[in-house]
Amino acid sequence: MPVGAASIAQVHRAVTTEGRTVAVKVLRPGIEEEFARALETYEWAAAHVELLGGEAERLRPRLVIAHFRQWTRRELDLQREAASASELRDNMVAEPGFHVPEIDWRRTARRVMTLEWLDGIKLSDRERLIEAGHDPKALAGILVRAFLRQAVIDGYFHADLHQGNLFALPDGRIAAIDFGIMGRIDRRARMWLAEILYGLITGNYDRVAEIHFEAQYVPSHHNVDEFATALRAVGEPIRGLPVKEISVGRMLDGLFSITRDFDMPTQPHLLLLQKTMVMEEGVATALDPDINMWETAEPFLKEWLRSELGPEAYYADRIIDTVRAFKLIPDLIRRIDAAYPPAGAAPPPPPLAEIEIVETRPRWARP
Ligand SMILES: Nc1ncnc2c1ncn2[C@@H]1O[C@H](COP(=O)(O)OP(=O)(O)O)[C@@H](O)[C@H]1O
Ligand SMILES: [Mg+2]
Repeated sequence: MPVGAASIAQVHRAVTTEGRTVAVKVLRPGIEEEFARALETYEWAAAHVELLGGEAERLRPRLVIAHFRQWTRRELDLQREAASASELRDNMVAEPGFHVPEIDWRRTARRVMTLEWLDGIKLSDRERLIEAGHDPKALAGILVRAFLRQAVIDGYFHADLHQGNLFALPDGRIAAIDFGIMGRIDRRARMWLAEILYGLITGNYDRVAEIHFEAQYVPSHHNVDEFATALRAVGEPIRGLPVKEISVGRMLDGLFSITRDFDMPTQPHLLLLQKTMVMEEGVATALDPDINMWETAEPFLKEWLRSELGPEAYYADRIIDTVRAFKLIPDLIRRIDAAYPPAGAAPPPPPLAEIEIVETRPRWARP
């Protein structure tokens, strides 16, 4: 009997010949044909919409569908999902509270993925969590740190972290499943993000605006001062809040509405990060309504600085003395980058274009 009836796959519980209990995820028969038909229809529609020009053309529907086609090709490849799980598992060794199930490669192929069975309680099942004696605050802390490590340090994040894909294990660890949607951001793009968030938090709107125009992220027919004012409109309401109430996800959301107003090309990859952040903040807040994201992140950031900065590590303790010190991090990242410049002498491309997305499940295909 399938334990989860998904739109593209079904998951079964099984026992291997070695006696291990596993989850077997199998692609639904006929799913490839269904996708192919749907995509053809979309492509036809997109081509027609683009002919209308104007706003419709700017959104580049055909390009979006082309991305879509690429994603669905990956979507329908469970071997690829297994590879994502295994990469994330390697990275999460550094976060012992966050468990990623092991892949059984001998029983994994394009249409079937076999992984360790998780005997846990879904985070969506709050009553059972409490009954079983779990500490929701501890779980929230683990989740926030694991996500930050993925997004900030590894640049490779699980982009579908809703409560149904997260389990609390009996020993208090969190486990994740469902690696169909992953985001990948390189260091340069992470710096860009840190830089702009830093600008918003400190209220240095003019500087952020200048950076955008210098790097030609914003078409030159726009006015740099107007861009700075738009940034201010996003930053000021947030700056008045206690750190505890600042939502990075909402901040990014405001930022992306600016990119639309100023004709910056659509960036589906960054939207994925923003969406995931909002989702992850939501899951964490549901577990612990009093959670202070920045304080939760502090010990983790401290550790990160220690390992990244090496000989400069002795600064870390003093730097991260207060939560406010979070604002220093963009500078530190810059120093790290100066110390380890990217190979080759090619001029740096705009950071956003370097963000690679590994998405295997379009939203409309989800249950
Ligand atoms: N390793 C596992 N251990 C236990 N249950 C699992 C495991 N993997 C999947 N499941 C169950 O199957 C359901 C669907 O699996 P998931 O990988 O999330 O597929 P989908 O991509 O369709 O959401 C999950 O919500 C969960 O109930
Ligand atoms: Mg799922």
